[in-house]
Amino acid sequence: MTRVVVVGSGAREHALAWVLSREADVVVTPGNDGMAAQGLRTSSASALELEPDLVVIGPEAPLVEGLADALRGRGVAVLGPGADGAQLEGSKAFMKDFLAAAGVPTARYCVVSDETSAREFFQSTRPPYVVKTDGLAAGKGVLVTANVEEALNDVREKLSGTAFGDAGRRVVLEEGLSGVECSVMVLVDGERAWPLATAQDFKRVGEGDTGPNTGGMGAYCPVPELDDVVPVVMETMVTPTLRELARRGVDYRGVLYAGVMVTAAGPYLLEYNVRFGDPETESLVRLYESQLLGVVEDCARGRLTSAPVSTPGAAVTVVLASRGYPEAPETGDVIDGLGPDGQLAEPMEGVVVFHAGTRRRTDGRFETNGGRVLAVSARATSVAEARRRAYGAVEKIQFAGRVVRSDIAREQEE
Ligand code: AMP
Ligand code: GLY
Repeated sequence: MTRVVVVGSGAREHALAWVLSREADVVVTPGNDGMAAQGLRTSSASALELEPDLVVIGPEAPLVEGLADALRGRGVAVLGPGADGAQLEGSKAFMKDFLAAAGVPTARYCVVSDETSAREFFQSTRPPYVVKTDGLAAGKGVLVTANVEEALNDVREKLSGTAFGDAGRRVVLEEGLSGVECSVMVLVDGERAWPLATAQDFKRVGEGDTGPNTGGMGAYCPVPELDDVVPVVMETMVTPTLRELARRGVDYRGVLYAGVMVTAAGPYLLEYNVRFGDPETESLVRLYESQLLGVVEDCARGRLTSAPVSTPGAAVTVVLASRGYPEAPETGDVIDGLGPDGQLAEPMEGVVVFHAGTRRRTDGRFETNGGRVLAVSARATSVAEARRRAYGAVEKIQFAGRVVRSDIAREQEE
């Protein structure tokens, strides 16, 4: 049996391990208590020590640090780009320069490391103003505001290093785009790219897309309205990106996640991520329940010659975050409604609970242990039905100060 190591400890990695373990011998490093409670093997050993045939790297940080290169250097197949390709996410300045070289449509931008240059750039654009940390910031380093003084304050704070440390020592400023946002994830095998089912995530913490950006409060897939967008994204973004990667000698094998704004003038690329989206993956795996291993393995080995086929139906994921998320999440609150295996105490059809920031107490119950705590994923024949199931399950899981959006996938309600 293929030995697959999944690297990471969040709900995305739980979802990947959950689906891959149907066909492979899976170990998650480091994993979390919820995965272990469910019978998945977790280990604090390094991916290499676990003697894998295939490694799937969940988060961006180890990719940017070159984990995929180290593993490939030892002959292991890896889903995830090397440090060179991971720069597309590791540095927004690098990504924007790359997009310009590749000719991918993206917002006008400027990279600055002083406030005067920022003021000049904003004088040349109309609101909203967009300020981004150059480096990794767990999805929280972006401000979009109509108030130029607020934007400049944010620039100052980021440059001073107080808000994001070294990740903010350079900032990327952009002109604001408006339109409908969507995520298109594609698998790249070094040469070819194939789209996965479309997904929509919800980044703001508050109902109706208000409040600060988070790592993601929920997601659903597929998104029928995106059927026409995907071919355009493939043609105007992914294909030129593959060409530019090849020109630079980058062998990119892994997920390329395009964060897209569909504007009146067509789709624009907001950002690339170099990994599966979280929480999109907690929905996505539900549409590939029995065929992900072959696809992932072929991609990692550079031989993915056809598009992965998803099963009919839909999935909705709702994230349960802890009190104070995203600014100052508090931990240690007991979670009600889960059984000893970390799933719903009273199982519901189509519902799986993926664990992120949870910890098992000595009495066997779970408590909160991070900002994003659980991702409740429901599958059904339609998005509307999956939504009903997901929220039915969400009601059964309670903890003090629980932060949940009630409007995930509401637009798909029948
Ligand atoms: P990013 O991490 O670059 O995807 O940015 C996070 C979020 O900020 C995006 O999902 C958008 O909602 C918003 N955003 C980023 N760039 C822009 C832009 N140029 N115009 C308007 N909104 C943006
Ligand atoms: N859901 C957004 C992300 O994974 O970056």
